[in-house]
Amino acid sequence: MTANRTHSHAQWSSRLGFVLAATGSAVGLGNIWKFPYMIGQSGGAAFVLIYLLCIAMIGLPILVAEWMLGRRGQKNPINTMSELARTHKRSQAWVLVGVSGVLGAFLILSFYSVIGGWALAYVGDAIGGGFRGLDADGAGALFTGMLANPGVLLLWHTVFMALIIGVVAMGVIGGLERAAKLLMPALGVLLVILVGYGMASGGFGAALAYLFNPDWSLVTGEVVLAALGHAFFTLSLGMGIMMAYGSYLDRKVDLLRTARTVVIMDTVIAIAAGLAIFPIVFANNLDPGAGPGLIFVTLPIAFGGIAGGALLGLMFFLLLTFAALTSAISLLEPIVELVEERTPLNRRAATVVAGLATWALGIAALLSFNAWSEVLIFGLTVFDLLDQLTSKFLLPLTGLGVILFAAWCLDKESVRKELGLGAGAFSVWQAVTRFIAPAGVLIVFFSSL
Ligand code: PHE
Ligand code: NA
Repeated sequence: MTANRTHSHAQWSSRLGFVLAATGSAVGLGNIWKFPYMIGQSGGAAFVLIYLLCIAMIGLPILVAEWMLGRRGQKNPINTMSELARTHKRSQAWVLVGVSGVLGAFLILSFYSVIGGWALAYVGDAIGGGFRGLDADGAGALFTGMLANPGVLLLWHTVFMALIIGVVAMGVIGGLERAAKLLMPALGVLLVILVGYGMASGGFGAALAYLFNPDWSLVTGEVVLAALGHAFFTLSLGMGIMMAYGSYLDRKVDLLRTARTVVIMDTVIAIAAGLAIFPIVFANNLDPGAGPGLIFVTLPIAFGGIAGGALLGLMFFLLLTFAALTSAISLLEPIVELVEERTPLNRRAATVVAGLATWALGIAALLSFNAWSEVLIFGLTVFDLLDQLTSKFLLPLTGLGVILFAAWCLDKESVRKELGLGAGAFSVWQAVTRFIAPAGVLIVFFSSL
């Protein structure tokens, strides 16, 4: 992101810079850590197909809507909503969309950093030779050993948080995004190697059937809401993050085409992660519903079993950490901006304050896996509560607000021109954004209550 964004409203130097930033935010732990274990918890292919439908019918239009509002408002999400509401003679209540977005970012980052810490811990394990000759039992023991130790989790959560605070405070985000141009494809290559390992593992056929041959009887309102919530999470929607990015977007950039690029990259990485992980699950008779530990109890088996696996494992967890960092930074930014704007603190101090607050909440999240595993709020651990509250509640509702405003409050003709659509295509766009996507969110939401 442009280094001096708080001082002058600079613009992206190129469409590529924008795509890198947006993809850096989108592609992260959501694709590689969360998506596979959610598939496993929801019973497989039916979840995958509903998820893909949510991405196409709801995620993509909301992504475009966030960019569109950001580009028009030219400010941070809260001020953008305030400004747009004023110029379109609407209630200032729309500002709530911006506020709940920042709250969502804060809650998500707290537990996201804990999982980023897990990836870092596995970098350490790879360096220490911990994957050598690992079988399924060994991989399980390695993971449970880590979870049982709050000190270890705290150490890596702290390192992860310190890294993002450092990057944001020093304003070197642009450099990180340029590095993404190299490192993201490298992550893709590693995933392909792991898919290759899966093909040879004997579990590939079972994995394909599991991922793509749906058993619709497993679908409940809960499963559909999980798929919808994850569509928001994975595309970084419903937090005003994409709206903030859109405020730096050049007038000439084609929103629909760019959104398609970002969505395809995000989806391909997520599916590849599924294709890498589930063959190992089935070849080793592991439980697909193992939950948040799924990638950590499966992939090390591959790294333990193939030639050069130690090095591959090291590279994989480094690249996963990197992907997590670029997403985490996009989560920290709106919180920092809010603190900077509403307090006398300068940017650097605001970064530290926002980072420390998030870090502290993260400690409660990491204790959910050990000391506080019995502490339940509404029947959920702190970690699960943070996850569910954001994905199933805050993000969909905030996204609903975004799309309703974009579809009903903006001037129709100017939107049509901005999207470069003819009359026919525009009526499809209108049907989707005015009715289909909002109805989808509402129906899923209420049917799961
Ligand atoms: N989209 C990121 C991922 O899939 C997570 C994220 C969510 C980042 C929300 C920013 C905002 O890992
Ligand atoms: Na993602």
